[in-house]
Amino acid sequence: MALIGRERPGEDRDGVTDRDMDAQSYAEAVFVQEDRYLKEIKEDIRARGMPAIFVPPVVGAFIHWMAKSHDSQAILEIGALGGYSGLWLARALRQPGGRLVSLELNPEYARVAESHLTKAGLGDVVEYRVGPALESLQQLDRENARFDFFLIDADKENYPEYLQWCVRLAAPRAIIVADNALQGGRVYAVEHREPSTEAVRRFNQLAAADPRLRALLLPIGDGLVVAEVVAPGPA
Ligand SMILES: C[S@@+](CC[C@H](N)C(=O)[O-])C[C@H]1O[C@@H](n2cnc3c(N)ncnc32)[C@H](O)[C@@H]1O
Repeated sequence: MALIGRERPGEDRDGVTDRDMDAQSYAEAVFVQEDRYLKEIKEDIRARGMPAIFVPPVVGAFIHWMAKSHDSQAILEIGALGGYSGLWLARALRQPGGRLVSLELNPEYARVAESHLTKAGLGDVVEYRVGPALESLQQLDRENARFDFFLIDADKENYPEYLQWCVRLAAPRAIIVADNALQGGRVYAVEHREPSTEAVRRFNQLAAADPRLRALLLPIGDGLVVAEVVAPGPA
């Protein structure tokens, strides 16, 4: 079967060949444009031997599209790695005045992410907070910080807690997005009982049942939960 992507010979599609092109790579090839700054982040992450666990381009483009459509002014990212999703998000911020706060456990990763956003001209809109995200979230609450868009993409065991914190820190009608909601299919395979899978299952159930949220799970990438906060505040 002939497959149609972007018809530009030699274009880098991250090693995707026609033979292994599937719905997601087709969607990326036709609709997603990564500029040199986004591509450089991924190359740098690989060159440094950091884990290449950034969101796929279609998810980057989707969170950008959502945050921009939502006219986001204050975005909170949990899990920065090298700044790949952070750059998609920072570019969606309302300007002037928008800001991205990004939480990262590893100080070296936060430094790499910050250098990439600075290179892309967005160093002044992003603030990296280094340390366990649960501590940074408590601190943000003490500062009375509020956000209108969230990306949860850090340690899976804490996803249920991250959800509660995001609702607490949410401005009215904020959007919460969480990556890896399918865990490579393990969430719906009952034999998988690892703590990370159990935690994401619990997260999905909480997001689906919480009356403060209007939530969906979209099976793109490794699964994205997307929720609108219809009633912010504590449970
Ligand atoms: C999947 S990566 C984030 C990828 C990034 N969102 C992207 O798409 O470019 C997860 C990140 O969460 C960080 N992390 C893990 N546990 C954390 C914790 N308890 N607090 C804050 N960050 C954490 C890891 O160091 C890692 O950089």
